[in-house]
Amino acid sequence: MENLNQEIAIVTCALPYSNGEPHLGHLASTYLPADILVRFLRMIGKKVFFISGSDDYGTPILISAEKEGKKPEEYIKKWWKVWQEDLEKVSIKFDFYGHTYSDYHNQLAQYFFKKIKENGFIYEKEIEQFYCPKCKRFLPDRYVIGTCPYCGARNQYGDVCEICGRTYSPLELKDPRCAICGSKPIIKKSKHYFFKLSSFSEKLREWLISNKNLQNEVKNYVLAWIKEGLKDWDISRDIEWGVPIPNENKKVLYGWFENHIGYISFFLELAKQLNLNGKEIWNKATIYHFIGKDIVYHHYLFLPAERMAEGSFKLPDFIPTRGYLLLEDQKFSKSRNWYISIKDFVSKFDSDYLRYYLASIVSYSQQDSNFKWKDFESKINNELISIIANFIHRVLTFAWNNFEGKIPKPKEFDSLDKNFEKEIQQFRQKYLKTMNSLHFDKALKQIVEFASKCNQYFQTKKPWETKDPNSIYLGFKASLEISLALYPFIPNKIEKLWEIFNLDIPKENAYSLNFKIENHSIKKPKIIFEKIDPKLVENEINKLRKIKKENMKEISIDEFRKIEMKVGKVLEVEEIPGSKNLYKLIVDFGNEKRQVISGLKKYYKPEDLKNKKFVFVTNLERKKFMGYESQAMILAAEDSKGNVILIVPEKDVEVGSKIL
Ligand code: 2FM
Ligand code: ZN
Repeated sequence: MENLNQEIAIVTCALPYSNGEPHLGHLASTYLPADILVRFLRMIGKKVFFISGSDDYGTPILISAEKEGKKPEEYIKKWWKVWQEDLEKVSIKFDFYGHTYSDYHNQLAQYFFKKIKENGFIYEKEIEQFYCPKCKRFLPDRYVIGTCPYCGARNQYGDVCEICGRTYSPLELKDPRCAICGSKPIIKKSKHYFFKLSSFSEKLREWLISNKNLQNEVKNYVLAWIKEGLKDWDISRDIEWGVPIPNENKKVLYGWFENHIGYISFFLELAKQLNLNGKEIWNKATIYHFIGKDIVYHHYLFLPAERMAEGSFKLPDFIPTRGYLLLEDQKFSKSRNWYISIKDFVSKFDSDYLRYYLASIVSYSQQDSNFKWKDFESKINNELISIIANFIHRVLTFAWNNFEGKIPKPKEFDSLDKNFEKEIQQFRQKYLKTMNSLHFDKALKQIVEFASKCNQYFQTKKPWETKDPNSIYLGFKASLEISLALYPFIPNKIEKLWEIFNLDIPKENAYSLNFKIENHSIKKPKIIFEKIDPKLVENEINKLRKIKKENMKEISIDEFRKIEMKVGKVLEVEEIPGSKNLYKLIVDFGNEKRQVISGLKKYYKPEDLKNKKFVFVTNLERKKFMGYESQAMILAAEDSKGNVILIVPEKDVEVGSKIL
């Protein structure tokens, strides 16, 4: 077995659900900061394992697969590939990208279950569950929909109301229905497994308080949850897609019990492939789990409690947690098209520019950040290019044109040179400290500030007049320092720059090298950083404007819920004297009869309507037509030729039934 003598870090990113593509929000909160850290740690000489993979189980994935008519094992493969391909487009590549749907993961998750049970922290309890007699299956979480018991919003899932945000048990839903077939479920008893989260309150509290690496703001509200009291947690589901519970039939582990075990199972699998002792390494490594703020509960409570309950795997040292990304002040929303996928972005703009911009706006905190196109353009053109890249370019072209493509040997330093040399050293110390504390946005700021100082120094030294070799020598030294510092942020651009520097800079342990730059020959400078064309940005802004307009036409779910529609039966049809179009209908809605005035005369004969059931809107304002009040409106479709066709229930249905 290989012996790893370096300090070791294991860096993981939250496992994305196999249920959609990565977008800029994922990148900003989790994957980019993790990648920046990995590159940085490698540069300062750490051995890093960079781990992620897909979170394959859970009811939403099963339902999406069913909707596409695919087997879940087929469905998840597609997303596993998409995530890796798209992340590679922004230079993010893991050492191991696993599947929770895999033998190695199932085995470790089952081991955790057995061990925790053996240790007395999992118990069994019979609970009542919805069961669909038609589909012949239990209806956990998203398999049941109904009316929110708190706010009355209709069509909510069994676990959480998307309107009021409250969580509840499926049994509390009003008017529950099977999400697949719409049948009314029955209640059936089922044996479930519970994890004794409550018995870890004290240990979790101690761990949170004693771990100085965790962000205080997050810690504080997790501590508040603990104070409110932790509840034991149902960790089993009666479905067939998941990690099978040992010695059970058709029972699987709840996704949030096993997905984070993937961090370990994926790492152990990688270690096995590398012929390393995975467990030993895990337990001596510094462990970072990068996440977005939506999954704090799971990572600060479930994850550590499970590791404590199992007892032999180290807990995380860092759980870097960042906020959401907004797009022009609004939340990302795929359904409203207010959204930018990674793939789409990099088809139009440089991926390193995206990395630079996102890293500069996302702080190491739970605060949300705001992607703004104009800001993106200005950060790249007026900061990265005008301040940083221009300085480096000036130094290089000056050396190329005036010193035969060589970095000149310096003369004795004057006081300006001495000061500047000190600045270079101080910059490195400050930068390393900031990066080690995971404040990447601040590190970028330090780089920009340092580059401004470099420009000032150059401006004062005026090498174009004085032909002063010192400013080129030190200017190159500073450029090299900037390039090292920027590498974790914009690796592609910097690699291109290093080609012009004509230096072979290793990605591992670069900071330990001492480059001799005196008389060093560079290559002919060329433009590496092209400015962003404002017209392209304007296009994107216009697209968003259009989408905004379209979205305004939409009504919200809540507005839609206000519309009441019912099935009514036409009892009588009368012509209205003097009208070519109108009929007066008397319609039965079960508990009441209403008069409906409708322009159907051209399309239907009275006998086509009489005694038939149609769909009506029943809560419109009342309106008079030719003196007759209409108390509801009949729904009809109009085809491209202008034919009007009434809408009839597909099966016989009681009059007065509501349309949902
Ligand atoms: O919220 C999510 O997207 C989850 N799939 C994250 C899982 S992270 C881990 F714990 F596995
Ligand atoms: Zn059903």
